[in-house]
Amino acid sequence: MSVDLAVDFCGIKLENPFILAPSPSTDHLDLLIQAFDAGWAVAVLKTVAVDSSIVSRVFPLVMRIEQESAFIGLQNIDLVSEHSVEFMEQMVVTLKKRFPTKVVIPSIMANSKDDWQTLAKRFVAAGADMIECSIWCPHGAEWSLCHKVQEPVGTEQIARWVKEAVGDTPVVIKLSAQDSDIIATAVAVERSGADGVCAINTIKSITGVNLETLIPYPNVAGLSTYGGLSGPALKPIALRCTAEIAQNVKLDIASSGGITTWQDGAEFLLLGASTLQICTAVLRFGIGIIEELCLGLGKWMEEKGFQSLTEVIGRSLPYLVEHSQLPRGIQVVAQIESELCNRCGTCLSVCRAGGNEAIVWREGRPQVIMNQCIGCGLCHAMCLVQAIHLVRPSGAAKAGKERVRIDAINR
Ligand SMILES: Cc1cc2nc3c(=O)[nH]c(=O)nc-3n(C[C@H](O)[C@H](O)[C@H](O)COP(=O)(O)O)c2cc1C
Repeated sequence: MSVDLAVDFCGIKLENPFILAPSPSTDHLDLLIQAFDAGWAVAVLKTVAVDSSIVSRVFPLVMRIEQESAFIGLQNIDLVSEHSVEFMEQMVVTLKKRFPTKVVIPSIMANSKDDWQTLAKRFVAAGADMIECSIWCPHGAEWSLCHKVQEPVGTEQIARWVKEAVGDTPVVIKLSAQDSDIIATAVAVERSGADGVCAINTIKSITGVNLETLIPYPNVAGLSTYGGLSGPALKPIALRCTAEIAQNVKLDIASSGGITTWQDGAEFLLLGASTLQICTAVLRFGIGIIEELCLGLGKWMEEKGFQSLTEVIGRSLPYLVEHSQLPRGIQVVAQIESELCNRCGTCLSVCRAGGNEAIVWREGRPQVIMNQCIGCGLCHAMCLVQAIHLVRPSGAAKAGKERVRIDAINR
Protein backbone atom coordinates (compact mmCIF):
# COMPACT_ATOMS: atom_id res chain seq x y z
CA MET A 1 0.00 0.00 0.00
CA SER A 2 1.59 3.29 -1.05
CA VAL A 3 -0.79 5.66 0.74
CA ASP A 4 0.05 6.95 4.17
CA LEU A 5 -2.57 6.35 6.87
CA ALA A 6 -0.65 8.41 9.42
CA VAL A 7 -2.56 11.34 10.85
CA ASP A 8 -1.88 14.18 13.23
CA PHE A 9 -4.32 14.28 16.13
CA CYS A 10 -4.05 17.07 18.68
CA GLY A 11 -0.37 17.46 17.86
CA ILE A 12 0.47 13.76 18.13
CA LYS A 13 1.31 11.72 15.05
CA LEU A 14 -0.70 8.48 14.91
CA GLU A 15 0.19 5.54 12.64
CA ASN A 16 -3.46 5.24 11.54
CA PRO A 17 -6.73 6.98 12.43
CA PHE A 18 -8.39 4.04 14.21
CA ILE A 19 -8.80 4.29 17.97
CA LEU A 20 -10.18 1.76 20.43
CA ALA A 21 -12.97 3.67 22.17
CA PRO A 22 -13.46 3.38 25.94
CA SER A 23 -15.46 0.24 26.70
CA PRO A 24 -15.00 -3.12 28.42
CA SER A 25 -12.41 -3.89 25.68
CA THR A 26 -10.14 -1.16 27.03
CA ASP A 27 -10.51 -2.11 30.68
CA HIS A 28 -8.21 -5.13 30.53
CA LEU A 29 -4.45 -5.07 30.11
CA ASP A 30 -4.25 -8.34 28.18
CA LEU A 31 -6.81 -7.13 25.61
CA LEU A 32 -5.02 -3.82 25.21
CA ILE A 33 -1.72 -5.61 24.59
CA GLN A 34 -3.38 -7.79 21.95
CA ALA A 35 -4.97 -4.72 20.37
CA PHE A 36 -1.68 -2.82 20.07
CA ASP A 37 0.01 -5.95 18.70
CA ALA A 38 -2.83 -6.25 16.16
CA GLY A 39 -2.25 -2.71 14.84
CA TRP A 40 -4.47 -0.31 16.77
CA ALA A 41 -2.62 2.99 17.04
CA VAL A 42 -4.42 4.35 20.05
CA ALA A 43 -6.55 3.15 22.95
CA VAL A 44 -8.77 5.26 25.16
CA LEU A 45 -8.99 3.43 28.48
CA LYS A 46 -12.34 2.74 30.11
CA THR A 47 -13.42 5.82 32.04
CA VAL A 48 -12.27 6.04 35.62
CA ALA A 49 -13.39 8.36 38.41
CA VAL A 50 -11.86 9.11 41.78
CA ASP A 51 -14.59 7.09 43.47
CA SER A 52 -14.99 4.42 40.82
CA SER A 53 -15.23 1.84 43.58
CA ILE A 54 -18.70 3.09 44.61
CA VAL A 55 -20.31 1.91 41.36
CA SER A 56 -21.47 -1.63 40.94
CA ARG A 57 -22.39 -3.09 37.60
CA VAL A 58 -25.58 -5.05 36.98
CA PHE A 59 -26.20 -7.67 34.35
CA PRO A 60 -27.02 -8.13 31.54
CA LEU A 61 -24.81 -5.19 30.73
CA VAL A 62 -25.84 -4.91 27.08
CA MET A 63 -28.92 -5.61 24.95
CA ARG A 64 -29.02 -6.26 21.22
CA ILE A 65 -31.18 -3.82 19.26
CA GLU A 66 -32.50 -5.17 16.01
CA GLN A 67 -34.78 -4.28 13.15
CA GLU A 68 -36.27 -7.12 11.12
CA SER A 69 -33.71 -9.46 12.72
CA ALA A 70 -30.75 -7.34 11.64
CA PHE A 71 -28.38 -5.98 14.28
CA ILE A 72 -28.66 -2.21 14.41
CA GLY A 73 -27.13 -1.42 17.75
CA LEU A 74 -26.49 -2.10 21.40
CA GLN A 75 -27.91 -0.59 24.50
CA ASN A 76 -25.58 -0.74 27.47
CA ILE A 77 -26.10 -0.04 31.14
CA ASP A 78 -22.39 -0.19 31.89
CA LEU A 79 -20.91 2.38 34.24
CA VAL A 80 -17.36 3.63 34.67
CA SER A 81 -14.52 1.17 35.24
CA GLU A 82 -14.65 -0.70 38.49
CA HIS A 83 -10.85 -0.48 38.64
CA SER A 84 -9.23 2.02 40.96
CA VAL A 85 -7.31 5.03 39.70
CA GLU A 86 -4.10 3.34 40.94
CA PHE A 87 -4.89 0.25 38.84
CA MET A 88 -5.48 2.35 35.72
CA GLU A 89 -2.29 4.37 36.36
CA GLN A 90 -0.35 1.12 36.50
CA MET A 91 -2.01 0.05 33.23
CA VAL A 92 -0.72 3.27 31.59
CA VAL A 93 2.79 2.69 32.93
CA THR A 94 2.86 -0.93 31.69
CA LEU A 95 1.45 -0.10 28.25
CA LYS A 96 3.79 2.82 27.66
CA LYS A 97 6.78 0.72 28.70
CA ARG A 98 5.85 -2.08 26.33
CA PHE A 99 4.55 0.11 23.48
CA PRO A 100 6.38 3.46 23.63
CA THR A 101 5.13 4.49 20.17
CA LYS A 102 1.45 3.67 20.77
CA VAL A 103 -0.83 6.32 22.18
CA VAL A 104 -2.52 5.68 25.52
CA ILE A 105 -5.36 7.96 26.54
CA PRO A 106 -6.97 7.64 29.97
CA SER A 107 -10.61 8.75 30.08
CA ILE A 108 -11.49 10.59 33.25
CA MET A 109 -14.69 11.70 34.95
CA ALA A 110 -14.98 13.88 38.06
CA ASN A 111 -17.34 16.19 39.87
CA SER A 112 -15.08 18.89 41.28
CA LYS A 113 -12.27 21.05 39.94
CA ASP A 114 -9.89 19.40 42.34
CA ASP A 115 -10.76 15.89 41.20
CA TRP A 116 -10.61 16.75 37.48
CA GLN A 117 -7.17 18.30 37.93
CA THR A 118 -5.79 15.65 40.27
CA LEU A 119 -6.87 12.79 38.02
CA ALA A 120 -5.50 14.46 34.90
CA LYS A 121 -2.14 15.22 36.54
CA ARG A 122 -1.79 11.70 37.95
CA PHE A 123 -2.30 10.13 34.54
CA VAL A 124 0.10 12.50 32.83
CA ALA A 125 2.69 11.61 35.48
CA ALA A 126 2.05 7.94 34.71
CA GLY A 127 2.91 8.55 31.04
CA ALA A 128 -0.46 9.24 29.39
CA ASP A 129 -0.11 10.80 25.94
CA MET A 130 -3.43 12.62 26.06
CA ILE A 131 -6.42 12.96 28.40
CA GLU A 132 -10.04 12.41 27.35
CA CYS A 133 -12.72 13.92 29.59
CA SER A 134 -15.93 11.95 29.69
CA ILE A 135 -18.02 14.83 30.88
CA TRP A 136 -21.34 13.18 30.73
CA CYS A 137 -22.62 9.63 30.59
CA PRO A 138 -26.20 9.09 29.38
CA HIS A 139 -27.05 6.78 32.23
CA GLY A 140 -25.96 6.24 35.80
CA ALA A 141 -25.88 9.98 36.57
CA GLU A 142 -27.20 9.37 40.08
CA TRP A 143 -23.85 7.88 41.07
CA SER A 144 -22.65 11.51 41.25
CA LEU A 145 -19.30 10.73 39.70
CA CYS A 146 -19.62 13.61 37.31
CA HIS A 147 -21.01 17.12 37.01
CA LYS A 148 -24.38 17.04 35.34
CA VAL A 149 -23.18 19.42 32.65
CA GLN A 150 -23.04 19.21 28.94
CA GLU A 151 -23.99 22.68 27.95
CA PRO A 152 -21.34 25.19 26.85
CA VAL A 153 -20.60 26.98 30.11
CA GLY A 154 -19.99 23.92 32.29
CA THR A 155 -18.10 22.10 29.57
CA GLU A 156 -15.82 25.06 28.93
CA GLN A 157 -15.06 25.32 32.63
CA ILE A 158 -14.08 21.65 32.93
CA ALA A 159 -12.01 21.83 29.76
CA ARG A 160 -10.15 24.87 31.17
CA TRP A 161 -9.50 23.15 34.50
CA VAL A 162 -8.08 20.05 32.87
CA LYS A 163 -6.02 21.96 30.32
CA GLU A 164 -4.66 24.19 33.09
CA ALA A 165 -3.66 21.07 35.06
CA VAL A 166 -1.84 19.24 32.27
CA GLY A 167 -0.24 22.06 30.29
CA ASP A 168 1.13 20.77 27.00
CA THR A 169 -0.51 17.36 27.17
CA PRO A 170 -3.43 17.35 24.71
CA VAL A 171 -6.94 17.31 26.18
CA VAL A 172 -9.97 15.94 24.35
CA ILE A 173 -13.52 16.56 25.52
CA LYS A 174 -16.09 13.86 24.77
CA LEU A 175 -19.40 15.42 23.74
CA SER A 176 -22.94 14.10 23.69
CA ALA A 177 -25.57 14.42 20.99
CA GLN A 178 -28.07 14.96 23.81
CA ASP A 179 -26.55 18.39 24.23
CA SER A 180 -29.13 20.91 23.10
CA ASP A 181 -26.52 22.69 20.98
CA ILE A 182 -23.44 20.64 20.23
CA ILE A 183 -22.02 23.40 18.03
CA ALA A 184 -22.12 25.91 20.89
CA THR A 185 -20.44 23.37 23.18
CA ALA A 186 -17.72 22.64 20.62
CA VAL A 187 -17.12 26.38 20.24
CA ALA A 188 -16.85 26.61 24.05
CA VAL A 189 -14.30 23.77 24.08
CA GLU A 190 -12.27 25.58 21.44
CA ARG A 191 -12.36 28.74 23.58
CA SER A 192 -11.14 26.79 26.60
CA GLY A 193 -7.82 25.98 24.97
CA ALA A 194 -8.47 22.21 24.92
CA ASP A 195 -7.14 20.43 21.87
CA GLY A 196 -9.93 18.31 20.49
CA VAL A 197 -13.39 16.84 20.86
CA CYS A 198 -14.72 13.33 20.65
CA ALA A 199 -18.22 13.14 19.18
CA ILE A 200 -20.36 11.40 20.23
CA ASN A 201 -21.01 9.35 23.33
CA THR A 202 -23.93 6.92 23.47
CA ILE A 203 -27.47 8.37 23.51
CA LYS A 204 -29.86 7.69 26.40
CA SER A 205 -32.32 5.06 25.29
CA ILE A 206 -34.76 2.27 26.06
CA THR A 207 -34.37 -0.87 23.97
CA GLY A 208 -38.02 -1.92 24.10
CA VAL A 209 -40.62 -3.55 26.30
CA ASN A 210 -41.34 -7.27 26.62
CA LEU A 211 -45.01 -7.64 25.70
CA GLU A 212 -45.40 -10.79 27.81
CA THR A 213 -43.90 -9.57 31.08
CA LEU A 214 -44.54 -5.85 30.38
CA ILE A 215 -41.04 -5.18 31.72
CA PRO A 216 -38.74 -2.97 29.63
CA TYR A 217 -35.41 -4.41 28.48
CA PRO A 218 -32.96 -5.15 29.95
CA ASN A 219 -34.81 -7.10 32.62
CA VAL A 220 -32.57 -7.09 35.67
CA ALA A 221 -34.40 -9.40 38.07
CA GLY A 222 -37.77 -7.78 37.36
CA LEU A 223 -36.70 -4.15 36.92
CA SER A 224 -35.14 -2.13 34.13
CA THR A 225 -33.39 1.19 33.58
CA TYR A 226 -32.29 3.63 30.87
CA GLY A 227 -29.18 2.83 28.88
CA GLY A 228 -26.86 4.18 26.20
CA LEU A 229 -27.44 3.47 22.51
CA SER A 230 -24.40 2.62 20.40
CA GLY A 231 -23.59 0.96 17.09
CA PRO A 232 -24.97 1.41 13.54
CA ALA A 233 -28.19 3.08 14.76
CA LEU A 234 -26.06 5.93 16.08
CA LYS A 235 -24.12 6.55 12.87
CA PRO A 236 -26.36 9.13 11.15
CA ILE A 237 -26.44 11.25 14.31
CA ALA A 238 -22.69 10.92 14.84
CA LEU A 239 -22.07 11.89 11.20
CA ARG A 240 -24.26 14.96 11.63
CA CYS A 241 -22.44 15.99 14.82
CA THR A 242 -19.05 15.47 13.18
CA ALA A 243 -19.98 17.67 10.22
CA GLU A 244 -21.55 20.39 12.36
CA ILE A 245 -18.50 20.57 14.60
CA ALA A 246 -16.09 20.51 11.65
CA GLN A 247 -17.98 23.34 9.97
CA ASN A 248 -17.81 25.51 13.05
CA VAL A 249 -14.53 24.94 14.89
CA LYS A 250 -10.91 24.18 14.07
CA LEU A 251 -10.52 21.54 16.78
CA ASP A 252 -9.41 18.03 15.88
CA ILE A 253 -12.34 15.62 15.96
CA ALA A 254 -12.37 12.00 17.08
CA SER A 255 -15.63 10.63 15.72
CA SER A 256 -17.47 7.91 17.59
CA GLY A 257 -20.81 6.31 16.89
CA GLY A 258 -21.59 3.41 14.60
CA ILE A 259 -18.26 3.03 12.84
CA THR A 260 -18.21 -0.63 11.81
CA THR A 261 -16.38 -0.81 8.50
CA TRP A 262 -13.63 1.12 6.72
CA GLN A 263 -16.38 2.64 4.57
CA ASP A 264 -18.04 4.08 7.68
CA GLY A 265 -14.66 5.43 8.74
CA ALA A 266 -14.06 7.04 5.34
CA GLU A 267 -17.43 8.81 5.57
CA PHE A 268 -16.56 10.29 8.97
CA LEU A 269 -13.16 11.42 7.69
CA LEU A 270 -14.77 13.06 4.66
CA LEU A 271 -17.04 14.98 7.02
CA GLY A 272 -14.16 16.30 9.09
CA ALA A 273 -13.06 13.62 11.58
CA SER A 274 -9.34 13.17 11.92
CA THR A 275 -9.61 10.01 14.02
CA LEU A 276 -12.19 7.25 14.41
CA GLN A 277 -13.13 5.74 17.76
CA ILE A 278 -14.68 2.28 17.58
CA CYS A 279 -16.43 0.38 20.34
CA THR A 280 -19.49 -1.69 19.35
CA ALA A 281 -17.87 -3.17 16.23
CA VAL A 282 -14.92 -4.29 18.35
CA LEU A 283 -17.25 -5.91 20.89
CA ARG A 284 -19.04 -7.58 17.99
CA PHE A 285 -16.22 -8.69 15.73
CA GLY A 286 -13.10 -8.52 17.90
CA ILE A 287 -9.94 -6.44 17.84
CA GLY A 288 -8.79 -8.21 14.64
CA ILE A 289 -10.98 -5.86 12.57
CA ILE A 290 -8.14 -3.36 12.58
CA GLU A 291 -6.42 -5.18 9.70
CA GLU A 292 -9.43 -4.88 7.37
CA LEU A 293 -10.08 -1.30 8.49
CA CYS A 294 -6.56 -0.20 7.53
CA LEU A 295 -6.41 -2.26 4.35
CA GLY A 296 -9.81 -1.16 3.12
CA LEU A 297 -9.24 2.52 3.86
CA GLY A 298 -5.79 2.42 2.25
CA LYS A 299 -7.05 0.71 -0.90
CA TRP A 300 -9.93 3.13 -1.29
CA MET A 301 -7.59 6.11 -0.86
CA GLU A 302 -5.28 4.65 -3.47
CA GLU A 303 -8.15 4.13 -5.92
CA LYS A 304 -9.39 7.67 -5.35
CA GLY A 305 -5.90 9.11 -5.78
CA PHE A 306 -5.58 10.36 -2.19
CA GLN A 307 -2.02 10.15 -0.94
CA SER A 308 -2.59 11.13 2.65
CA LEU A 309 -5.44 11.53 5.10
CA THR A 310 -5.09 15.30 5.06
CA GLU A 311 -6.49 15.16 1.52
CA VAL A 312 -9.51 13.18 2.76
CA ILE A 313 -10.39 14.93 6.02
CA GLY A 314 -13.30 17.33 5.51
CA ARG A 315 -13.35 16.79 1.73
CA SER A 316 -17.16 16.38 1.64
CA LEU A 317 -17.97 19.39 3.81
CA PRO A 318 -18.28 21.93 0.95
CA TYR A 319 -21.20 19.89 -0.42
CA LEU A 320 -23.18 20.33 2.81
CA VAL A 321 -25.27 23.49 2.59
CA GLU A 322 -28.36 24.91 4.25
CA HIS A 323 -31.65 23.59 2.92
CA SER A 324 -32.47 26.95 1.34
CA GLN A 325 -29.27 26.76 -0.71
CA LEU A 326 -30.18 23.47 -2.40
CA PRO A 327 -30.85 23.79 -6.13
CA ARG A 328 -34.54 24.18 -6.88
CA GLY A 329 -36.67 23.19 -9.86
CA ILE A 330 -34.81 20.04 -10.85
CA GLN A 331 -37.26 17.40 -11.97
CA VAL A 332 -36.87 13.83 -10.77
CA VAL A 333 -39.16 10.89 -11.56
CA ALA A 334 -39.34 7.23 -10.59
CA GLN A 335 -38.66 4.49 -13.10
CA ILE A 336 -39.48 0.84 -12.39
CA GLU A 337 -37.17 -1.75 -13.89
CA SER A 338 -39.61 -4.41 -14.99
CA GLU A 339 -37.08 -7.30 -14.95
CA LEU A 340 -36.17 -6.61 -11.31
CA CYS A 341 -39.71 -5.90 -10.05
CA ASN A 342 -41.28 -8.74 -8.05
CA ARG A 343 -44.81 -7.29 -8.39
CA CYS A 344 -45.26 -7.00 -4.61
CA GLY A 345 -47.19 -3.74 -4.93
CA THR A 346 -45.31 -1.94 -2.14
CA CYS A 347 -44.56 1.01 -4.43
CA LEU A 348 -48.27 1.56 -5.08
CA SER A 349 -49.18 1.68 -1.43
CA VAL A 350 -46.25 3.88 -0.39
CA CYS A 351 -46.95 6.29 -3.23
CA ARG A 352 -50.53 6.64 -1.97
CA ALA A 353 -49.41 6.86 1.67
CA GLY A 354 -47.10 9.69 0.63
CA GLY A 355 -50.05 11.63 -0.76
CA ASN A 356 -49.57 10.81 -4.46
CA GLU A 357 -51.10 8.46 -6.99
CA ALA A 358 -48.34 8.31 -9.52
CA ILE A 359 -48.00 4.51 -9.61
CA VAL A 360 -50.77 2.36 -11.05
CA TRP A 361 -51.23 -1.36 -11.70
CA ARG A 362 -51.26 -1.90 -15.45
CA GLU A 363 -50.63 -4.99 -17.56
CA GLY A 364 -49.93 -7.10 -14.46
CA ARG A 365 -47.27 -4.82 -12.98
CA PRO A 366 -46.80 -1.41 -11.31
CA GLN A 367 -46.16 1.46 -13.70
CA VAL A 368 -45.25 5.10 -13.09
CA ILE A 369 -47.42 7.85 -14.58
CA MET A 370 -44.56 10.14 -15.36
CA ASN A 371 -46.38 13.44 -15.37
CA GLN A 372 -47.88 12.71 -11.94
CA CYS A 373 -44.66 11.60 -10.25
CA ILE A 374 -43.18 14.38 -8.10
CA GLY A 375 -39.93 12.47 -7.50
CA CYS A 376 -40.33 12.24 -3.71
CA GLY A 377 -38.30 9.03 -3.63
CA LEU A 378 -40.62 7.09 -1.28
CA CYS A 379 -41.07 4.18 -3.71
CA HIS A 380 -37.33 4.09 -4.36
CA ALA A 381 -36.61 4.10 -0.61
CA MET A 382 -39.14 1.38 0.23
CA CYS A 383 -38.73 -1.01 -2.72
CA LEU A 384 -37.61 -4.32 -1.23
CA VAL A 385 -35.85 -5.52 -4.38
CA GLN A 386 -34.31 -2.20 -5.43
CA ALA A 387 -36.17 -2.26 -8.74
CA ILE A 388 -36.95 1.48 -8.75
CA HIS A 389 -34.58 4.15 -9.98
CA LEU A 390 -34.92 7.87 -9.78
CA VAL A 391 -34.16 9.56 -13.05
CA ARG A 392 -33.82 13.11 -14.16
CA PRO A 393 -35.62 13.29 -17.47
CA SER A 394 -33.42 15.05 -19.98
CA GLY A 395 -34.88 16.51 -23.18
CA ALA A 396 -34.24 13.17 -24.84
CA ALA A 397 -35.74 11.33 -21.91
CA LYS A 398 -39.00 13.15 -22.28
CA ALA A 399 -39.12 11.77 -25.77
CA GLY A 400 -38.82 8.33 -24.22
CA LYS A 401 -35.13 7.82 -24.89
CA GLU A 402 -32.07 8.26 -22.65
CA ARG A 403 -32.57 9.21 -18.99
CA VAL A 404 -30.04 10.37 -16.42
CA ARG A 405 -30.14 8.03 -13.45
CA ILE A 406 -29.66 9.85 -10.18
CA ASP A 407 -30.41 7.08 -7.71
CA ALA A 408 -27.00 5.48 -8.18
CA ILE A 409 -25.47 8.51 -6.50
CA ASN A 410 -27.99 8.28 -3.69
CA ARG A 411 -27.44 4.69 -2.64
C1 LIG B 1 -20.48 -1.46 26.93
C2 LIG B 1 -20.03 -0.05 26.66
C3 LIG B 1 -19.26 0.61 27.60
C4 LIG B 1 -18.84 1.92 27.37
N1 LIG B 1 -18.07 2.57 28.30
C5 LIG B 1 -17.66 3.84 28.08
C6 LIG B 1 -16.84 4.51 29.02
O1 LIG B 1 -16.45 3.98 30.05
N2 LIG B 1 -16.49 5.80 28.75
C7 LIG B 1 -16.88 6.45 27.61
O2 LIG B 1 -16.53 7.62 27.42
N3 LIG B 1 -17.64 5.81 26.69
C8 LIG B 1 -18.02 4.53 26.90
N4 LIG B 1 -18.79 3.89 25.96
C9 LIG B 1 -19.14 4.61 24.72
C10 LIG B 1 -18.16 4.26 23.58
O3 LIG B 1 -16.85 4.63 23.89
C11 LIG B 1 -18.58 4.93 22.27
O4 LIG B 1 -18.40 6.33 22.39
C12 LIG B 1 -20.02 4.65 21.88
O5 LIG B 1 -20.34 3.31 22.15
C13 LIG B 1 -20.29 4.93 20.40
O6 LIG B 1 -19.41 4.23 19.57
P1 LIG B 1 -19.80 2.81 18.86
O7 LIG B 1 -21.05 3.03 18.10
O8 LIG B 1 -18.60 2.47 18.05
O9 LIG B 1 -20.01 1.84 19.98
C14 LIG B 1 -19.21 2.58 26.18
C15 LIG B 1 -19.98 1.89 25.23
C16 LIG B 1 -20.38 0.60 25.46
C17 LIG B 1 -21.20 -0.12 24.42
